[in-house]
Amino acid sequence: MIEELPLTQWQGPFDAAVKARALEALESGSVLYFPQLPFRLLESETEFLDARVADGKAKNISLDHTTGKMQASSLTGERAVRLAALMERFGSSAATLVNDLLPYQNVERARTSFRPVQVKGRSYSKISDDRLLHIDAFPTRPMHGRRILRFFANVAPSSPRHWHVGQPFEEFARRFLPQVGPHLPGKSWLYEKLGVTRGKRSLYDELMLSLHDAGKLDSDFQSNSQHQNVIFAPGSCWLVFTDQVLHAALGGEFALEQTFHLDVAQMREPARAPIRVLERLSGKALA
Ligand SMILES: [Fe+2]
Repeated sequence: MIEELPLTQWQGPFDAAVKARALEALESGSVLYFPQLPFRLLESETEFLDARVADGKAKNISLDHTTGKMQASSLTGERAVRLAALMERFGSSAATLVNDLLPYQNVERARTSFRPVQVKGRSYSKISDDRLLHIDAFPTRPMHGRRILRFFANVAPSSPRHWHVGQPFEEFARRFLPQVGPHLPGKSWLYEKLGVTRGKRSLYDELMLSLHDAGKLDSDFQSNSQHQNVIFAPGSCWLVFTDQVLHAALGGEFALEQTFHLDVAQMREPARAPIRVLERLSGKALA
């Protein structure tokens, strides 16, 4: 489930054998782990390793690199500008690495996030508690089958980031598909009209959200399904298709994350995409 890669630089060219190994591991549902690839903060940026830089309402501070707009930070003025610059530097480094390591064209760089609050000890409803095993599905941004690829860096000086990584996607889908749905035909239309979603959810989006919720709400699944303990050391990075790999973040503070979106057709083996697996299992076109 974890494929360790010995990268020490953010930019290619990378060895052909390493690139082949990265692609195979990623598409088959492993986490690519880069233990020797620290994302370094400037001395002046270490002041941002403080939970109070978040506004206390949202889980994460986010940056839209197309507009430069940062959300959910308590910072203002010059300090806000410097935090946004740090997040931008991380996001563009992550984009360079993804583009140089993987053969995909047209990878869309989406939001960048900074997660400055210790994961342990926060309280959430079950549905929004990412300490429970889940696959990522966006409630407000319909994906129509497009992939969610995420690059993370643990920038904490000494705390590891602790995850559980769960069973393969198809096993998870086989377990929960019989309990989800049917989906009300008017709901996705109404959500779009009301502005709950940006664009209309496809059947795929509805199914993925239902699977996300069903898994989190099933305490037998949470306690007893097969999973691996993973420790991401301070100064390490990792890359994973979070719409495919069951994951739970149990502990850690100060992580940076860059999200990418990608068309299924870009994959070397599109049949491994969640949409193709769900279409095969349900016998229906989903987007
Ligand atoms: Fe997640």
